[in-house]
Formats: sequence, structure tokens, C-alpha cells
Amino acid sequence: AKIKEVDFVKSSNRPKDCPKDDRPEFAMLGRSNVGKSSLINFLVRKKDVALTSKKPGKTQLINHFLVNRSWYIVDLPGYGFANAPESARMDWSSFTKGYFLNRETLVSVLLLIDASVPPQKIDLDCANWLGRNNIPMTFVFTKCDKMKGGKGRRPDQNIQDFQELIRGNYRQHPPWIMTSSVTGLGRDELLLHMSQLRNY
Ligand code: GTP
Ligand code: MG
Repeated sequence: AKIKEVDFVKSSNRPKDCPKDDRPEFAMLGRSNVGKSSLINFLVRKKDVALTSKKPGKTQLINHFLVNRSWYIVDLPGYGFANAPESARMDWSSFTKGYFLNRETLVSVLLLIDASVPPQKIDLDCANWLGRNNIPMTFVFTKCDKMKGGKGRRPDQNIQDFQELIRGNYRQHPPWIMTSSVTGLGRDELLLHMSQLRNY
């Protein structure tokens, strides 16, 4: 599962502008600021292949990155960022129909969930929508390094609570992985998981 080469291919603002070849792809989905773009850089071990920011709303287009000339990682804008200017906000309803329901090369959605906060309704809704529509997904818990400090709850508790809240909604509970782009936690596990899914 070694990454030798990563190339930015294109940014699209509509699903129909996405690359049309038949290479398998994984889409990063999750709230603004959850760490989608950071996860891409973490996977490919490069600092700024995908642009990140402390402020939510950084990624605004559908960005295709080609790995080892054989599969895509797709960076998406985040959802749940109410303060984005209207012009910059993606039309999620047409996007979901055009992309998640119709993208035949989509191997799995990587649904990113911030492990440093308790389960959020918008993430549960998103997971349930994907589940109802039989779209394969993997839960990727981010920011698992935020373990320290007395205040708030620990990531492992948040993760457990999230899993409990969606339990029973799926024929098979989606696979899940804990990550931290700060400590490197979960990188090998996630790459292996993705390579296994590609080779089915
Ligand atoms: P949008 O493009 O706005 O949807 O956000 P995004 O999901 O792409 O988030 P991005 O990767 O830009 O990261 C947002 C912030 O979270 C940045 O300040 C990152 O440094 C931080 N961050 C991302 N991953 C981690 C992590 O694993 N641990 C910690 N502590 N911070 C992280
Ligand atoms: Mg981003």
C-alpha cells in the first residue's frame, strides 16, 4: 500500500465535470474543519498537496488527486459551515444526487468524524443517509490526539457514543479507524483498508 506518487488532477464544481475514467476513488466527507484536507496530506506524507486552514470553509470544490497513477482521493468541501458566503456554498442537494448516488467508481466514502467532540446530529444524519442509500462508508475518526487535558470528554468515549447511536441502522456496521494527522495514528491501518477495498 505504498504511496509513490500523488498528482493533483483537477477541481470541479459539478459532479459531471469529475474525471471520467474508471479508476477507483475514495471521497472525503465530513464537517468543515474536521480535517479532510489534512487527512489527505497525512496519507500521502506531503505537507500541502491539499490546502488546509484553521478556519472552516477552506475547500470549496471537488478536488481529484491521483495516487500512484491508479486510484483517486477526492477532497470535498465540508458540510455544516453556515457562515460560508452564499456564492461559495456548495449546493449539497444536487451534489449528493449527482455524486454519491451516481459515481460508479466510488469505492467508499470516508466519513470523517471529529473524535474530540461528542456525537453531532449532522454527522449522524449524514451517516444514516449514506446507510439508507447503500453507499459504502468507512468512519474515520480524526483528531484522536486531543486526548489530553481534564476538560471535556475523551475521544474514545466520543467514538463509543457515536457508534452506539448508529448501531442497528446498518446490516453491517461500517468499518472504523482512529486517526491523528498530528501523531500519525491510523495511517497504515487506513492505507491497508483502502487497498483491500480496491482489490475486492
Ligand atoms: P474544510 O476544507 O473547511 O471543509 O475543512 P477540512 O475538513 O479540510 O479541515 P482541514 O484539513 O483544513 O483542517 C482543519 C484544522 O484542523 C486545521 O487547523 C488542522 O491543522 C486541524 N487538524 C486536522 N487534523 C487534525 C488532527 O488529527 N489533530 C489535530 N489536533 N488537529 C487536526
Ligand atoms: Mg478542506
